Amino acid sequence: MKIITVKNSDIAGIKSADIVMDCIKKKKKFVLGLATGGTMIPFYESLSRLINNKKIDVSSVKTFNLDEYVGIDRNNEKSYFYFMNKHFFSKVGISRDNINFLNGNAKNLKLECKNYEKKIAKDRIDLQILGIGRDGHIGFNEPGSDLKSKTREVILLDATRKDNSRFFNGKIGKVPKKALTVGIETIMKSKKIILLAFGKNKAGIVHRFLHGSIDKNIPASFLKKHRDLTVILDREAANELD
Ligand code: PGA
Repeated sequence: MKIITVKNSDIAGIKSADIVMDCIKKKKKFVLGLATGGTMIPFYESLSRLINNKKIDVSSVKTFNLDEYVGIDRNNEKSYFYFMNKHFFSKVGISRDNINFLNGNAKNLKLECKNYEKKIAKDRIDLQILGIGRDGHIGFNEPGSDLKSKTREVILLDATRKDNSRFFNGKIGKVPKKALTVGIETIMKSKKIILLAFGKNKAGIVHRFLHGSIDKNIPASFLKKHRDLTVILDREAANELD
């Protein structure tokens, strides 16, 4: 595992975008696993700037997003699909056919998850970008998730809904109770993983994740078994590390 600490989230965004770009340039038909959330905004800003300034052709890059709320239409501005479009897809030339997303409005959610899992298994993710929740979740794999978990429907914990209520005008009641998420086993199969964490409200979980033991109550701790994990922190998030 490699830990990189930089001054602030803007610099972390630039650093992570540089690493991702180097990987993309090295391989045709690169498969990129993507995440949503506030942490990802500086990363997408830097990555789209880099792609556009350097005129990199990303039309053949294939993407898989980690998760989506259940029962929210993808055109709804609260959906993760909308987030991705706003912060990344609308800015760069990734072919629409190469963008893969879980549909939280599918009639048969089990089948939706099964098919998504199959698609990822076929393509194999070259690089997965992750954030971390204050309870240690990755994607929507909440505490208690199994190392062997696959893409599935999950019930969101109140702590996660409370954290995400900032995207729902502060109203926890408006945050969906369920979501679809790629599983931990699925994430672990990615060839390379980069986890980003910024800000003082992540310092506690960053400490527990990096210094604690591997424990299903901190799903991110499973990542320490991965052979190519890079953790990029800003100073505030790294504040409780030795
Ligand atoms: P955040 O979410 O970036 O909005 O803090 C991180 C996560 O839940 O993975």
